Amino acid sequence: MKLTPMLPPDDDLDRIMAVMVRAFDVKFGEAWNRKQVSDAMLFGHCRYGLIGSDGAEPDEPTQDAVGFFLARRIIDEEELLLFAIHPDHRRKGLGHALLTRMLDEARAAGMVRIYLEMRRDNPADALYAAHGFRAIGLRRGYYRSPDGSRIDAISQELVLQD
Ligand SMILES: CC(C)(COP(=O)(O)OP(=O)(O)OC[C@H]1O[C@@H](n2cnc3c(N)ncnc32)[C@H](O)[C@@H]1OP(=O)(O)O)[C@@H](O)C(=O)NCCC(=O)NCCS
Repeated sequence: MKLTPMLPPDDDLDRIMAVMVRAFDVKFGEAWNRKQVSDAMLFGHCRYGLIGSDGAEPDEPTQDAVGFFLARRIIDEEELLLFAIHPDHRRKGLGHALLTRMLDEARAAGMVRIYLEMRRDNPADALYAAHGFRAIGLRRGYYRSPDGSRIDAISQELVLQD
């Protein structure tokens, strides 16, 4: 886990963006560009995590990442802003492994709740449900796809401590 009061090294941004551009279907308008990621890291108590194809966090700048998360802390709550595994490495448990790590780190840091927004009908729903997330709301037209159409988001919450 890397908590970023400043920008991550360029090689980590490169690794995040290499997954980003492949993981999110452009038609849903969910992917962030490099500036959005680096601005979030500069402004907002964000942290990120990377996962390699062996399920471990890549520790050498030369090791590829096949997945990442980006989350923002607000006092004792956290929002999971982005979560993705490269399409060539899906359905092997890496999403579960990365989410487990992200949640373990949040618990260890004393976070009480995790929030996220998910595109309606995203198969990621099953992953989040398996970790205890539940739907708490609907944001109509939250995502804007490149063709201008709007897609609803489901807000989800995981309570870590009452
Ligand atoms: C969602 C995502 C991170 C899952 O990554 P993954 O490495 O394939 O996840 P896992 O192999 O650990 O599988 C996790 C569970 O998610 C569900 N799941 C993932 N992809 C699925 C799909 N295409 N269809 C149905 N269920 C799916 C399954 O329940 C799966 O568990 P199972 O394989 O035991 O049935 C990946 O598909 C992804 O990056 N999607 C695009 C980005 C995205 O939408 N991120 C979430 C934004 S909120």
